[in-house]
Amino acid sequence: MTKIINFKETINQKELEEIGSTLRNGKLVIFPTETVYGIGANALDAKAVDDIFKAKGRANDNPLIVHVANFDMVHELTYEPTPIEKHLMDAFMPGPFTLILKKKKMIPDNVSAGLDTVGIRMPENDIARKIIEEANVPVAAPSANISSRPSGTKIEDIKDEFDGKVDIIVDGGETKIGIESTVVKVIDGIPNVLRPGKITPEDIKDVVGIVKIDEHVYKKAEGKVESPGMKYRHYAPNSNCIMIYSEQDEILIEEIKKHLTPNTIIIGYLEHQKYFPTTKFYVHGSKNNYDEISHNIFSLLRKVDKEHPDLIIIEGVKKEGIGIAIMNRLIRSCSYHYIEK
Ligand code: TXA
Ligand code: MG
Repeated sequence: MTKIINFKETINQKELEEIGSTLRNGKLVIFPTETVYGIGANALDAKAVDDIFKAKGRANDNPLIVHVANFDMVHELTYEPTPIEKHLMDAFMPGPFTLILKKKKMIPDNVSAGLDTVGIRMPENDIARKIIEEANVPVAAPSANISSRPSGTKIEDIKDEFDGKVDIIVDGGETKIGIESTVVKVIDGIPNVLRPGKITPEDIKDVVGIVKIDEHVYKKAEGKVESPGMKYRHYAPNSNCIMIYSEQDEILIEEIKKHLTPNTIIIGYLEHQKYFPTTKFYVHGSKNNYDEISHNIFSLLRKVDKEHPDLIIIEGVKKEGIGIAIMNRLIRSCSYHYIEK
């Protein structure tokens, strides 16, 4: 039986203690962060970590991110960071940011899928931080979704997939950002963005003067890659799906019209809804508010999928700021089936 604990309004101390001991004792807890929900286990307990892989159906060559509550935990788990890594940590932790660092032996091999590095993240979400502090162990946590499905951003979307598979689900309402953290690895002194997120390449450049975006951010990854997660089908609804984008509205709208089927659902801009009066249309956000799109997109994909359309058409965004991360996710949601004009 999975227990649901409601921390939406207040964090109850007794329940917090129960969550902490559940994690310490090798059980699984789903909890909110500012990005998406995570399915967490004691990162120092190889058996508990193995249970995460089983619950998600995750490939075991895809490493997990380890969540910490403070810098002491970072130093315990990893070797001394380089000055650039230190700069990045000071600038973006706590926050929606994951840094790949050299790991110490105490982190079990299955956490890092046999790599000698580990992804470290210090969430800023209050519930997440209190849970990790209370557990007093680092918490390995991938996004709370069955592998290949859209990441969970509210418990209504998570309950069905994980009921009975985890001990506790902590409800913290809808996650603020809605897409996962920016994953960065410093290679030869240059920060490489392996997975884009709310912390943008520009933000990173502002701090250390230089940044690279990994070539697999928009491309399909095969074989050996820096970020194993990029190899897998991800964020995908079960229905057929195509993403379409043009900076010019007329071209975008015309292209969508060419693809419409009798039972298409469009996920698109508030400003474009009026051009499709006879098609089911869900708004992902406004053209000038990409944060809104990032917040809504995974949950909308799940919602639309439940209606079994013969096609989902998603309007894409401009690849700048958080738009880089949104396009990275949408391209994968549509299994690389997209048109940019
Ligand atoms: O926002 C987030 O990061 C969420 C919340 C729960 O914190 N977590 C999350 O975890 O998205 P997950 O497991 O769904 O994604 C982890 C990503 C994968 O793409 C994985 O390949 C990459 O991080 N990763 C983890 N450890 C790595 C390592 N040592 N080297 C390279 N990439 C790594
Ligand atoms: Mg994930």
